[in-house]
Amino acid sequence: MNILRQQLRSSATNSRAFANGAIRAQEQARGIATRPKSFQLNTGASIPAIGFGTFQDPDAQEDAVSRALKAGLRLIDTARVYDVEKQVGRGIKGSGVPREEIFLGTKLWCNNFHPDDVEKALDESLEDLDTPYVDLLMMHYPCTFARGEDRFPRDSNGKMILGETSFVDTWKAMEKLVKTGKTKAIGVSNFSKGELETIIRECHVVPAVHQMEVHPYLQQKAFNEWLRSQGIHVVQFSPLGNMNDFYRSTGWSKEVSHMMRVIDQPLLQELGRKYGKSAVQIVLAWGINNGRSVIPKSTIDWQIKENVESDFELDAGDMKAIETLDIKARFNDPSLDYQWRLYSDLEGIEGTKDGKTH
Ligand SMILES: NC(=O)c1ccc[n+]([C@@H]2O[C@H](COP(=O)([O-])OP(=O)(O)OC[C@H]3O[C@@H](n4cnc5c(N)ncnc54)[C@H](OP(=O)(O)O)[C@@H]3O)[C@@H](O)[C@H]2O)c1
Repeated sequence: MNILRQQLRSSATNSRAFANGAIRAQEQARGIATRPKSFQLNTGASIPAIGFGTFQDPDAQEDAVSRALKAGLRLIDTARVYDVEKQVGRGIKGSGVPREEIFLGTKLWCNNFHPDDVEKALDESLEDLDTPYVDLLMMHYPCTFARGEDRFPRDSNGKMILGETSFVDTWKAMEKLVKTGKTKAIGVSNFSKGELETIIRECHVVPAVHQMEVHPYLQQKAFNEWLRSQGIHVVQFSPLGNMNDFYRSTGWSKEVSHMMRVIDQPLLQELGRKYGKSAVQIVLAWGINNGRSVIPKSTIDWQIKENVESDFELDAGDMKAIETLDIKARFNDPSLDYQWRLYSDLEGIEGTKDGKTH
């Protein structure tokens, strides 16, 4: 943790010096155009650069999804385990935006990973979402929990009971779903590089998407480059880092989540002033300029509007400067609770082993 703090302090000092110079060099106000942009998946389909997350605030989600769509967003990210699929479905209908204009993704939860349960689980999601298909179905995590209705099956000591099949079995069942038309593409979330290599080696379909934690504090440069080389598009979850209070209250990351919020970093604040944007918008634009989609969550209109207007070009020098904020701080790591060493070959797992963060 001391190393993290030192890195934060020194990157803040470097960033201030850098950004002051940059501002002096850019005295003229710049007109920054918003470029609504999308990326192409390995299926040929296109996925918007900016999307909308739906984790938390279930009572607000119907209205929020509807407002997000009306504000121009066209990528909605949800999951079975968020318990908001009904609200998301109603929000889509209420927005008046035609279904075919929306990229809708959901995630299969770990108690439904047995190959015989996969299609039924998707059917339940489709029913709640009130749609005949999703554009993307993801495996939420690589770990499999015991089959049954209980989403978090635990033994008498509270320890998670794992299932008997592997993510390879689940993936093969998901591959069959593409042929039914119930999902247009399949992807994964929270996988390690080794787990993805196993899928690529043992299965037929290369995941279209890897949804994973990426923000300036956890840039995962080498892994992102590898994913790109494999044709796997990255969707950044928690794109604002430790902005979500959830990370300050969960045991998953309490040792690191209280550090300075990403968006309070002086460099990002200064860049915001340079571009006439907020630090949030700089952070989202950084992800998009790196070729990734971002799915910030918000229920508040002015924030949604800001997020919609986050696709603009950042100078190469500014992109390089943001790299100095990479302190490899991972906030989403339920490894101990899920009884599965997640992200085992990736950055940012130091300090989250053996219950240290639980
Ligand atoms: N695959 C996975 O395992 C996984 C894990 C985590 C998240 N996700 C997905 O990623 C989405 C986003 O992740 P997240 O919610 O953890 O983090 P986030 O989107 O980075 O941060 C959300 C927080 O930022 C605030 N916010 C949003 N836009 C803002 C703006 N323009 N200005 C100021 N504050 C702003 C929100 O405020 P308000 O709440 O007040 O609006 C909320 O507190 C989730 O909703 C979910 O769909 C997936």
